[in-house]
Amino acid sequence: MIQVAVLGYGVVGSGVVEVIEKNQEMINKKAGCEIQVKYVLDLRDFPDNPIQSKIVHDINTILDDSQVQVIVETMGGVEPAYTFTKKALALGKSVCTSNKELVANHAPELLQLAKENNCNYLFEASVGGGIPIIRPINYSLTPEKIEGITGILNGTTNYILTKMQKEGAAFQDVLKEAQLKGYAEKNPEADVEGYDACRKIAILSSLMYGKNVKYEDIYTEGITKLTAEDFTYAKKLGTSIKLLAISKDMGDKYFAMVAPFMIGQEHPLFSVNDVFNGIFVKGNMLGDTMYYGRGAGKLPTASAVVSDVIDCARHLGKNILCFWDSERVKLTSINQISRKFFVRIKGTVEEVLPKVEEVFGKVSVVTCEELPEEFGFITEEITELSFNEKAEAISGIRSRIRIEE
Ligand code: HSE
Repeated sequence: MIQVAVLGYGVVGSGVVEVIEKNQEMINKKAGCEIQVKYVLDLRDFPDNPIQSKIVHDINTILDDSQVQVIVETMGGVEPAYTFTKKALALGKSVCTSNKELVANHAPELLQLAKENNCNYLFEASVGGGIPIIRPINYSLTPEKIEGITGILNGTTNYILTKMQKEGAAFQDVLKEAQLKGYAEKNPEADVEGYDACRKIAILSSLMYGKNVKYEDIYTEGITKLTAEDFTYAKKLGTSIKLLAISKDMGDKYFAMVAPFMIGQEHPLFSVNDVFNGIFVKGNMLGDTMYYGRGAGKLPTASAVVSDVIDCARHLGKNILCFWDSERVKLTSINQISRKFFVRIKGTVEEVLPKVEEVFGKVSVVTCEELPEEFGFITEEITELSFNEKAEAISGIRSRIRIEE
């Protein structure tokens, strides 16, 4: 029998208990032994809930119990999760987590600690919620040199952007509605500013290279500046606007970024809507693969955590190799990366296009009847640096959105 302790009885932690209880028989069969939740660590008490019999308030109760072999860390945040995880791993107890912040900040050290103590630090639920993505990269794609990962990694922002696209609504209105429905946090900063997606692409990039990609090095732009007018053009062009997290191995340079991108209907992520996530991975032998599903939510995320618990049960006393060294990957500045840009500019085509073409060269023009006082244009492929310099040389630019092809 494997005794499990769950740290944090919040949304995901309670989901883990529920998944283990609901699918107990099947989980035990697949794990090859019985899996039982012995303790739940939480500051709170739950007097009317049967879970109360398992609630403890002191981490040492769990750490001192030699019967506990696997710990589920669903506390979120760096501390005290970091200290608890280190102590558990040092004692040879495996840790399974959904905590992307902790993984993005300390995975190389925690993986090394797990290796030294013949246990495991697993984090399937830290990216893409219930979507299998860490295990495919670590197991199934091991023969591959991964050349690129492009993902819609944040459900909240994808919900907001889908609503803006479908309803032509303004960002602030959709955000308010998303908060009322529980799809966005009261403080939505981490999601709408792209920080959450940034940590997730840092994790995936690190696994891609086997070295450490620091989230602080990743250029990150959120969705707060997007307007209903941007979507009017997107509609006219038959495109959509998505918050993409991109990581590419370009042979001589590596780059990663998070920002809103305009994508066409032929793009594999075009139809990933609402709270769903989609992750597109390109291997040098296999070619393209795509992973799609619920990137957030209680049971999908808990299911991913429990898959790690089962993996720990199958590998008791044995470390599962995970390549993520502490050596820092030096990312290229996005200034060097070339792409097309969609731009909105004040004025009529007759008045302003000559100046636009003088600065940008040949562009494709798009006009919208609803917006007679401005027009849009799409540049040829140019570097970010060159785009910024040219944009400085022209007045009246209302917005620019990068295009991903
Ligand atoms: N806020 C996150 C999202 C939760 O919307 O994707 C899952 O990490």
